[in-house]
Amino acid sequence: MSSPERPISFSTGYRDTGCGLLDSEWAGREVTLSGWVHRRRDLGGLFFIQLRDRTGVVQLSFGPDWTEDDCLALAGELGPEDVVQARGQVNRRPDDAVNPDMATGEVEVHVRQLERLSPSAPLPILVAVPPEEDLPAEELRLRHRVLDLRRPEMLHHFVVRHRATAAVRAALDEEGFLEVETPLLTRQTPEGARDFIVPSRVQRGHFYALPQSPQLYKQLLMVAGFDRYFQIARCLRDEDLRADRQPEFTQIDAEMAFVEQDDVFGVAERMFARMWRDTLGVELETPFTRLTHADAVEMYGTDKPDLRIPWKLHDFTPVLVGIGFGIFDAAAKSGGRVRGFVAKGGTALSRARLDHYNERAGEYGAKGALWLKRTEDGWSGAPARFIGEKTAPELERQFDIEPGDLVALVAGPDAETSSALDVLRREIAAELGATRLTESHWLWVVEFPLFEADPETGRPVPAHHPFTMPAETDPDRLREEPLSILAHAYDVVYNGMEFASGSIRCHKPDLQRAILETLGLPADEVERRFGFLLEAFKYGVPPHGGFAVGLDRVIATMVGMESIREVIAFPKTAAGRGLMEGSPSTVSSEELAELGIQLSPEG
Ligand code: AMO
Repeated sequence: MSSPERPISFSTGYRDTGCGLLDSEWAGREVTLSGWVHRRRDLGGLFFIQLRDRTGVVQLSFGPDWTEDDCLALAGELGPEDVVQARGQVNRRPDDAVNPDMATGEVEVHVRQLERLSPSAPLPILVAVPPEEDLPAEELRLRHRVLDLRRPEMLHHFVVRHRATAAVRAALDEEGFLEVETPLLTRQTPEGARDFIVPSRVQRGHFYALPQSPQLYKQLLMVAGFDRYFQIARCLRDEDLRADRQPEFTQIDAEMAFVEQDDVFGVAERMFARMWRDTLGVELETPFTRLTHADAVEMYGTDKPDLRIPWKLHDFTPVLVGIGFGIFDAAAKSGGRVRGFVAKGGTALSRARLDHYNERAGEYGAKGALWLKRTEDGWSGAPARFIGEKTAPELERQFDIEPGDLVALVAGPDAETSSALDVLRREIAAELGATRLTESHWLWVVEFPLFEADPETGRPVPAHHPFTMPAETDPDRLREEPLSILAHAYDVVYNGMEFASGSIRCHKPDLQRAILETLGLPADEVERRFGFLLEAFKYGVPPHGGFAVGLDRVIATMVGMESIREVIAFPKTAAGRGLMEGSPSTVSSEELAELGIQLSPEG
């Protein structure tokens, strides 16, 4: 594991250098080291201890010829994770004892004196987990997070996180951005999730909301003339948690005045490039590819396509509707289509696997999935007997289908089929090993719609957030046909993951009011919730725009982890609990009374 740490000696009153920094240049010198007992070996009177600190691990050796008697006795008693200070001579190891797997493997310290600074109780989870052993269950790791974070693999995640954040600061500083902090105790911000609310003691019956993002503040800083703002900002959202979502997470939040979309893209690309260069030593190819939202959904069924999968969705309607297969005809009759993709080599999938994927399609909103297998002997699958002599060659030619291929099909209105096709494409590609895991694809998805229809009410809701500049600036058209209007909103997508979102903002107060009204907010509520923004907009607003990057997701990707919990020091469980400190917790009835809050009886 390469460490992107810079060479620093770590010399203090307790030590001359870091354990992991010793190399053959130190040979012959006396050194004092401090750290934790990582592993201990006892060879009958000789002891070997791997001593660990932030910088790495080094071998200490103890023997009657060079270790003071009481220190030798102490070495025999040490347990894992005791904190010790050791003094002795650095020696080059004999050639046959050099450990090429250890950064300090050429040397060991012959310890003369040893002191135990702090003993460790028996460990509830191991720090020095043998490489062949599984990690403890995540609950245990989170409960004993301090020990879990001691593992060098975990430390590495935070070194990377630090380097990447430092690269962000350097990149944005060079471009004239000012780092500004915005309030944590604020009022509701409209990012679409539920707010965490905080009762006010002084203003009884009133509540602060914790910010879902600094969105409105960063726009106000543009009105204030700061021109370029950024913040490594904590955002708080009370939403259902998944591997890539936490109730508190971190954004690289940025905003710029007097910019068009291309200006924002340039800054974001240079920032990502700097992060990748400084942290991973990788040169990113810029500019990133651009894909419209409409094309993304048509070709991949999602606004976050993973372009490592070489299959695109196709419209099979013209070829498959009218061949006599009822489901296809019914879908077309009700305004739907038959869409699908060709999974190369997919005939290898068993009946049971296809049944499983049929269920997956159902979970994602479709009525189910249909399959056509093209084998050396011809076609099989439910619609196969309707594929006559005319249709078969047409299918093969148009969609490049060869023996061994599976055609996955989902019929129905696009709104029902897109997500199902997306999930089938990703999961079947993963199962067949078709995802090109060594590739990286950076993508701007552009021209998002301004609104989308709420799946339950059908009413327009913001596709991004309501402060986005519409492509159509006539307030009347906006009110009449809200769902047809595009926005200057964009996402950064990396291998199917949404890394960042942003937009050019609506800086015209009338248009902004029309957007908020279209969302069904009565004028008095618009005033109550967003009056402070609209008030500021009266005094000269620069055209402005920006973006926010989900820092936790980016770092998890950089270190090859699926879950953002691996790159957050003290994350919450899926149920929103902090298992180490035991949050959330109850508060005393006195405190509640002071806040004027009474809990209703449970149930
Ligand atoms: P948005 O809500 O899309 O935009 O958030 C921006 C990015 O933040 C990350 N993200 C999350 N990461 C972890 N846990 C979560 N619960 C979570 N929610 C979002 C994603 C996402 O792309 N104010 C706007 C940005 C702007 O318009 O400038 C905003 O917050 O990677």
